[in-house]
Amino acid sequence: MTPTVIVIGGGGHAKVVTESLKLQLADIIGFTDIKNKQGDTVLGVPYLGSDEQIYRYPPDRVMLVNGLGSVADATNRRTLFEMFKRAGYRFATVVHPAAVVSPHAELGEGVQVMAGAVIQAGTVVGPNTIVNTNATLDHDCRVGAHVHLAPGATVCGGVSVGDCAHVGAGATVLQGLSIGTGSVVGAGAVVTRSVPPGKVVVGVPAREWSKG
Ligand SMILES: CC(C)(COP(=O)(O)OP(=O)(O)OC[C@H]1O[C@@H](n2cnc3c(N)ncnc32)[C@H](O)[C@@H]1OP(=O)(O)O)[C@@H](O)C(=O)NCCC(=O)NCCS
Repeated sequence: MTPTVIVIGGGGHAKVVTESLKLQLADIIGFTDIKNKQGDTVLGVPYLGSDEQIYRYPPDRVMLVNGLGSVADATNRRTLFEMFKRAGYRFATVVHPAAVVSPHAELGEGVQVMAGAVIQAGTVVGPNTIVNTNATLDHDCRVGAHVHLAPGATVCGGVSVGDCAHVGAGATVLQGLSIGTGSVVGAGAVVTRSVPPGKVVVGVPAREWSKG
């Protein structure tokens, strides 16, 4: 059965998930946004109003889709997910038809797998995580909640990625390593050693980086 959904957010990431939902033949009621987008549509989907409008639809009638993107900081995306979970809502899992997800992989609630992404056997992906366009997660990885694997990220086999981490566009994480909770792997980095929690690493090979 196709779900009836509301998309939270009307920006770029919302547009990409909306397209996937349409290809999954989901019934999309509309999208919400904190900015007033009265009269706007996202790929033909109407604006409903602020996030408060969601409460007009009982949790047993609709599922939600998190349309907020995250670049290195998962806070807003995580806060929305947790707030609506506490209110009893469920988040739909979005898998683009051109993604390849092993039947031996597990996806948590609200995981979003975009076009061209590949998730191999034995990998477990935590709730509210984005596996973005062309990102790959090889076999036996453990990925936490609210993680963003940005477009083109390559995560080799047996890697563990902590909650709220960001693996940047085009970055590569070598096999068996761990990326700590809340850490950021810069775009294009090649990670050859495990990254402790809360660190930012950039470059080839990746090294710890801090601003200023
Ligand atoms: C590493 C990162 C988090 C740093 O962000 P930031 O704090 O805003 O840093 P800035 O853009 O101000 O750049 C600061 C310096 O780091 C350099 N830098 C930024 N990102 C870099 C990267 N990925 N690799 C190497 N150097 C980088 C910049 O060139 C700049 O150098 P300069 O001071 O000599 O000019 C960020 O650049 C990054 O890679 N984010 C991931 C982006 C991504 O995955 N996008 C996907 C969206 S879907």
